[in-house]
Amino acid sequence: MPVNLRDRDFLKEVDFTTAELQYLLDLSADLKHAKRTRTEVPRMSGRNVALIFEKTSTRTRCAFEVGCYDQGARVTYLDPTSSQLGHKESAADTARVLSRMFDAIEFRGSAQETVETLAEFSDVPVYNGLTDEWHPTQMLADYLTMLEHGKGRVAADISYCYLGDARSNMGHSLLVMGAIMGSDVRIAAPKALWPSAEVRAIAAERAAMSGARITITDDPAEALRGAAFVHTDVWVSMGEPKEVWDERVALLTPYQVNAATLASTGDPDVRFMHCLPAFHDSNTVVGKEILERTGMSEGLEVTHDVFESPANIAFDQAENRLHTIKAVMVATIGD
Ligand code: CP
Ligand code: NVA
Repeated sequence: MPVNLRDRDFLKEVDFTTAELQYLLDLSADLKHAKRTRTEVPRMSGRNVALIFEKTSTRTRCAFEVGCYDQGARVTYLDPTSSQLGHKESAADTARVLSRMFDAIEFRGSAQETVETLAEFSDVPVYNGLTDEWHPTQMLADYLTMLEHGKGRVAADISYCYLGDARSNMGHSLLVMGAIMGSDVRIAAPKALWPSAEVRAIAAERAAMSGARITITDDPAEALRGAAFVHTDVWVSMGEPKEVWDERVALLTPYQVNAATLASTGDPDVRFMHCLPAFHDSNTVVGKEILERTGMSEGLEVTHDVFESPANIAFDQAENRLHTIKAVMVATIGD
């Protein structure tokens, strides 16, 4: 059946079939080629998109904004202090107001429930730009990047390992997206930071449909062996209190991505991926403070040498946020 995503929300990976996500990846590649060759045809002329950011962002916000401009649409950015959402107006009421003015609404914030409520009460598509539970637009960028660097492999032949906090948005999304796409997915984390039974059940159900191979282990060596891509993420996510840093560093230090980690995949062409931002040096306020306090001078979730090595494809991944987010918007509200 041909894929048609017109007017659909984009809230979490599990809402989509393998074919629908592959369609978005193919459209992303086409849009990327069109931008590079200056042959892009605007398909969102006259559209208006509302961007609600309860949490900070560089990539996601810029991808939505530039994606709109490239496609002839306009954006209105609402930061945490300049809208009534959550303070004086509910998600349901906000959705009913904004969908009278806009053609789509993006939301980044803590609760998945908020973006689901916005979608329920909105007459226009709602996009999840990250919640504590899922980061679905990031998944399209991660897959586009792995396909580009995958030596011609299709999604079902891709193998990757995620090391780190597996109960976070990135841990959840990499697990479930890989399960839907039929890939070989390995998650390595201390048991205290494994995805919930509910998220593991979603992954198992979709893996049974797609043929995906899922490994969840506390043994990094088992997860890394034979993986073509190694992903990680920050050890403490936005919204978590500063006080959890010490406990998290103690739990996750064995899961740091360093030169030995990459070597233990056994693949000399292994590639390193990170949704960014990354704590690999002391050139940020938080990075400096944590590196000094813990004495981890080489980096936190990834060492500086790996981050600066040719194995790092995180900046291709970051660029692909633009092409993939644009694809979501074109597919749902474009001509
Ligand atoms: N990867 C990602 O979502 O980046 P931002 O937080 O900068 O949007
Ligand atoms: N897990 C991270 C992802 C940032 C893009 C966070 O939520 O802060």
